[in-house]
Amino acid sequence: MKFDAPITIALSKGRIFEQSLPLLAHAGIEPSDDPETSRKLILDTNHQQVKLVIIRATDVPTYVQYGAADMGIAGKDVLMEHGGEGLYEPLDLQIARCRLMTAGYPNTGAAEAKGRLRVATKYVKSAQRFFAAKGEQVEIIKLYGSMELAPIVGLADLIVDLVESGNTLKANGLVPIEHITDISSRLVVNKASWKMKHVLVTQLIDAFREAVNQSTG
Ligand code: PRP
Repeated sequence: MKFDAPITIALSKGRIFEQSLPLLAHAGIEPSDDPETSRKLILDTNHQQVKLVIIRATDVPTYVQYGAADMGIAGKDVLMEHGGEGLYEPLDLQIARCRLMTAGYPNTGAAEAKGRLRVATKYVKSAQRFFAAKGEQVEIIKLYGSMELAPIVGLADLIVDLVESGNTLKANGLVPIEHITDISSRLVVNKASWKMKHVLVTQLIDAFREAVNQSTG
């Protein structure tokens, strides 16, 4: 079979990589190395036309936007912060599912009683949008991780973070408060690659779609 030029797919190691493996396998792609044990950033696969680049989750949309990778797998949380310029988002892969929520100590949130609430998060745009839509003025404090610590040490009243099992909140004496949106990983495609490598891009999207449909019944 004749294919277009080779394709690189950007994704992050950990949960997204692990949960992408069955989808990649369905498309006939098996990575030659395990990113948990290998320090390689570019992984060959058994598919002659496909390579994987292993990068930070927050960098995936940027690589794909600029065509440094043709395709990528990124959480909706990350895509909402990036803004999605230069990207098509053809498929919800239904993996790495969780919720974007506000959280804090029980009974937090009476803004009128306390004045302007401080909200710590790495999801600044999503948090701004959420509170603006509610007509609430809050002060957003940008953090890069371990948001759960912020209410404990008095840095913030609330956090906006991903919640999966709720165990991290619970372990730190916090509770989920408001559901902002459901999150899952999405397939993203560079707009130029979509046109220039259409045959292979389409084959891969179709294979991923079939795998998602099979796994979600
Ligand atoms: C995420 C998130 C929470 C935790 C929620 O962090 O930021 O801390 O998972 O999961 P739970 O509800 O099942 O406890 P992650 O471990 O992905 O690391 P991060 O801080 O680098 O995002």
